[in-house]
Amino acid sequence: MQKLTITRPDDWHLHLRDGEALKAVLPHSARQFARAIVMPNLKPPIRSVIEAAAYRERILAAIPSDQQFEPLMTLYLTDNTSPEEIVKAKASKFVKAVKYYPAGATTNSASGVTDIRKCDRVFATMEQEDLPLLLHGEVTNTDVDVFDREKVFIETHLIPLVSRFPKLRVVLEHITTSEAAQFVLNASSNIAATITPQHLLFSRNTLFKGGIRPHYYCLPILKREKHRLALIQAATSGNPKFFLGTDSAPHARNTKEHSCGCAGCYSALHAMELYAEAFESVDALNKLEAFASFYGPDFYQLPRNTEKITLAKQTWRIPDEVPFINTGLVPLRAGEEMSWQMMEP
Ligand code: NCD
Ligand code: ZN
Repeated sequence: MQKLTITRPDDWHLHLRDGEALKAVLPHSARQFARAIVMPNLKPPIRSVIEAAAYRERILAAIPSDQQFEPLMTLYLTDNTSPEEIVKAKASKFVKAVKYYPAGATTNSASGVTDIRKCDRVFATMEQEDLPLLLHGEVTNTDVDVFDREKVFIETHLIPLVSRFPKLRVVLEHITTSEAAQFVLNASSNIAATITPQHLLFSRNTLFKGGIRPHYYCLPILKREKHRLALIQAATSGNPKFFLGTDSAPHARNTKEHSCGCAGCYSALHAMELYAEAFESVDALNKLEAFASFYGPDFYQLPRNTEKITLAKQTWRIPDEVPFINTGLVPLRAGEEMSWQMMEP
């Protein structure tokens, strides 16, 4: 049997939700990852250090006694976030970044930023305090085609932003286009990107294969095959600007299979197996460890993990669903076979 042993990875973009949902999904992430950057888009969002501290305690309380996991907290940026809150966030030590959602872009983003320039005082403080900015990099103008929203964000908001704040550390989250990969590649070393398993494995054709497939619907939406190939190239290039962030985003089955279904793919159950398949598809398994376990902590100026995990080349079937609150949660590629499996320690 072929085995791949690598340093335990971290997930640099994760939705853990709260309450019963948190309890259902946290063990999956904790099995695979040592740490995760936890998204703040709860209802209501995590906007202050006090709220982040309380959320962090709820996450810690939900970790099963036989597991270990370190949540790295984020604040949700709004039009009203103050520079003082940024100073407090940096001083807290457990808030590791601030998340920008354009108002209305995605799940629970109603309190997001209405105009990025309104936040310039906050960005100046973040640059000074060296607190990273995480971007949901899409415009929300209804006149911009949904498949172009990332590209237009880069042109109209991101390029001006990085020239206004050249030292600000920025992560362009869940990149989906060749334009995004190219932008990050050409940008200075304080600009990085995370890449999800779904954007490495699927193009938009998968969304419509034989019918409409809501469990492949996430934001930013899957793009053309040429973009998928550009992301594969970036992820497997060995460039430290590109690292792992699953964007695993659980939604109950009935809210995905709906006349207006929610955006989000659930991958926490089998993230490393999905990434292994993507890397293996271009014969780049030797690049997986650095992407999954080294470049993220390096960017966040945190120590790399020392523990190891092992993936084995063996076939198993992804379950049709896993328990979630009073219903089910459908994992990415549910019911299909995977060729790698993470082994129990
Ligand atoms: C995320 C969610 O459900 O919270 N959904 C998604 O499609 N990625 C929100 C987000 O990160 O955009
Ligand atoms: Zn997300």
